[in-house]
Amino acid sequence: MAVDDYVHVWEPATEPGAPTVLLLHGTGADEHDLLPLGRALAPGAALLSPRGRVDENGMNRWFRRLREGVFDVDDLIERTDHLAAWIEEAIEAYALSPERLVVSGFSNGANTGAALLLLHPGVVSGAALFAAGAPLQGREPDPVDLSGTKVFLGSGVADPITTIDQARLLGSQLEERGAQVTEREHPGGHQLAPDVLAQARSWFSESGF
Ligand code: MLT
Repeated sequence: MAVDDYVHVWEPATEPGAPTVLLLHGTGADEHDLLPLGRALAPGAALLSPRGRVDENGMNRWFRRLREGVFDVDDLIERTDHLAAWIEEAIEAYALSPERLVVSGFSNGANTGAALLLLHPGVVSGAALFAAGAPLQGREPDPVDLSGTKVFLGSGVADPITTIDQARLLGSQLEERGAQVTEREHPGGHQLAPDVLAQARSWFSESGF
């Protein structure tokens, strides 16, 4: 494993001592897509933005799915392990502090961020996830210890892809494992609503990463 195993963008912090945001894009996007989100969420932070290695008919993703909304959970677990190993590599390569590394993602990237929290507790210290659901679908995650991990979940009540029930299930799975979860819902669908982004930005600055 080398840091170049994932095509990625690395933008050093523009403010001394600022945290790092790991950005995980949605299906069909790439490593450039969420850079504006990272800058809006955490002004001055370093940004680390890899590209998903799964190719679904020309669309980049983080793990395979059987059809929309139905994940290949074994593939998700294997690829989340691989991504976690890469994050360790990036921590070394860019001299990052794991306790000041926050994952953010949208849709498929948010599901992957949720999988990182549940399968690799401690690899990041926080998460701001938009349109994320419970990533292991029918499987109950292990009883890991997420105390000290701060999580913001922004979800759409009318989201047809990540249903609000899946988003709330993720919130309770994280809370039951000790994470400090802030859940914000908007009336819309599968999107990053401006109000929720503003709430995430306040959450980020108050969280003291
Ligand atoms: C997923 O596959 O992770 C979700 O269904 C969202 C998406 O379409 O990417």
